[in-house]
Amino acid sequence: MRIGVDYYPEHWDKSLWRADADLMKETGVKVVRMSEFAWCRLEPQEGVFDFTWLDEIIEIFEERGIDIVLCTPTNCPPLWFYEKYPDAVQTERDGRKTATGIRGHRCLNSPEFLNYSDRIVDKMTKRYAAHKSVIAWQIDNELEANFCFCETCVGKYRSWLKDKYGTLERLNKAYGNDVWSGEYSSWEQIKPPYGHYPQAWLNPSFMLDFNRYASDGMIAYVDRQAEIIRKNCPGVEITTNVWFCENMPNFYKSFSNLDFVSYDNYPTTRIPDNAEECYSHAFHLDLMRGVKRQSFWIMEQLSGGLGCWAPMARTTTPGMIQGYSLQAFAHGADTVVHFRWRTAVSGAEMHWHGLIDHSNVPGRRFAEFAKLCKTAETLQAVQNTELKSDIAILYSPENEYAFKIQPQTNGMYYLEQIMLLHSAFTKYGLNVDIIGQHEDISDYKIVVAPEMYVTESGVAERLYSFTEQGGTVVLTNRSGVKNEYNTCIMEQLPTVYRKLIGAYVEEYNPIGYDSGMLRFADGSTFRCRQWCDVMAVETAEPVACYDSDFYKGKAAITKNRYGAGTAYYIGTVGEKSLYYKLIKEILLEKEIPFVDGLPDNVEITTRTGEDMTVRFIFNNTDKEQSIQLEGKAISLLPFEMKIER
Ligand code: GLA
Ligand code: ZN
Repeated sequence: MRIGVDYYPEHWDKSLWRADADLMKETGVKVVRMSEFAWCRLEPQEGVFDFTWLDEIIEIFEERGIDIVLCTPTNCPPLWFYEKYPDAVQTERDGRKTATGIRGHRCLNSPEFLNYSDRIVDKMTKRYAAHKSVIAWQIDNELEANFCFCETCVGKYRSWLKDKYGTLERLNKAYGNDVWSGEYSSWEQIKPPYGHYPQAWLNPSFMLDFNRYASDGMIAYVDRQAEIIRKNCPGVEITTNVWFCENMPNFYKSFSNLDFVSYDNYPTTRIPDNAEECYSHAFHLDLMRGVKRQSFWIMEQLSGGLGCWAPMARTTTPGMIQGYSLQAFAHGADTVVHFRWRTAVSGAEMHWHGLIDHSNVPGRRFAEFAKLCKTAETLQAVQNTELKSDIAILYSPENEYAFKIQPQTNGMYYLEQIMLLHSAFTKYGLNVDIIGQHEDISDYKIVVAPEMYVTESGVAERLYSFTEQGGTVVLTNRSGVKNEYNTCIMEQLPTVYRKLIGAYVEEYNPIGYDSGMLRFADGSTFRCRQWCDVMAVETAEPVACYDSDFYKGKAAITKNRYGAGTAYYIGTVGEKSLYYKLIKEILLEKEIPFVDGLPDNVEITTRTGEDMTVRFIFNNTDKEQSIQLEGKAISLLPFEMKIER
């Protein structure tokens, strides 16, 4: 298990470099990441390259046995480039050019940008190909599926549509463009969503394709860089760092040609009042592990209080630096790189705190980081273990786009139910895989498929055969609503899943911020919210019925035997305790061992190796909590943990 730091030699006087590297070595830092924003120092004038400073710092790290991740610096082309090619600046929705002087403002389709980007990537990767210490390349930085509205990009978008549909007739039909006289009679009439009116006014079919295109466009750029790197540095691993941004790319596609996933992880420094929200860190980490279904890196990890475009937030309190990094290991990361070694003294992010403060005096946070480095060394044995899970939750970027395009009702968003279901399994101390909808699910015992809104080809079929062969599937409301073009399927909901769940939606009530009640057969009642599917059972049996509103007594949750397996359908959104109850019943039914009575916000994950099982027990709160586990264990951690036998 490896700890690293993000380092910006270009921000610091050279006189600091050796002392920094010495301290890193002494502290136990194993890897540094550099250069993602350093283009103007690598090519200070057009065609004039200066790698000498990077050579020097690389040598300093090499001498100390510290490995290096180099980044292609393409996030920020130098200003001389924009001066010469003003068209290469990204164009915004309203037709204006993005202000330069920030970052990430290049048009990824500009032929000039691509030429210059190819050239710097090529030069850099050739130069460092022979360095064994350069163990990986990071492409650009936090690329997003943003859309540039320049003519070149609009043209690309039209070509993407042409490739997909071939003829306007097919496209018009797929989108149902007869509504509001929206039929295209020439490709030039296809315009991206200019203007600032709500997205929901636009045709959702058009918008979903637009999101898909934006993602594909970003991925084409990633692949283009990856090809150059691979050619020049065969065998060296390639990644790009991602986060949960507004315009997310399709992670499954964006990493398909890369070697590992890396994620920028900034968990909260303020324990929320509703502390169960804390399970969301676990959720994001599980989702990242599931992208390639293998171990991953944290390329930027929280180190201090955040603040730059927002006012400064609370600092990392004692335990957070160690805790959050170990939590990442617990969920499948094998390398955690802290952002950043030292807080910047200039630039927009001078208040985004690193491990060392402006004073350059290593303080409390640094001392904790040093302990973390030592702890990670004691966990070497964990390296060869993996997280195995009986439970998979399906996630789909397409559904996420479609829910953002058309919010279903007040307060409802795609990730919420997924997170609720994830936290129910987390609450029982279980590993949970979050995987893409197109993955093989045959080895799982339970597959949770929330809000299968846009019907992607092959997915329903896989869920049918999984259930038929004995699996348990959990589906929820808003499933089978749309076809792949994001138009409504003209069948009783949940359309393609109706046979599987043995029930259908008679009618639905989007109750938004209001709430209702439902009652289980054992008399227990729970609050339901946002959405109520009023279910008519066919082969299914009701598990819980509504206890309020005009559909009182009608099924809200159903259970159906299908083949050798079982399909549950949750037609509403419940409070957390509802999921705890239901999931517990399912776990008992499937005879999956779990930990009952785990205190709120404590998680347990298990990494298994050939000859050892490692359990990570993580307390998300700032209060002492105790749990009882069966069996014997030894503590792998060098610090105090009370173990009572
Ligand atoms: C992101 C970026 C970093 C930095 C941090 C903190 O994760 O990748 O360059 O901006 O946020 O702001
Ligand atoms: Zn553009």
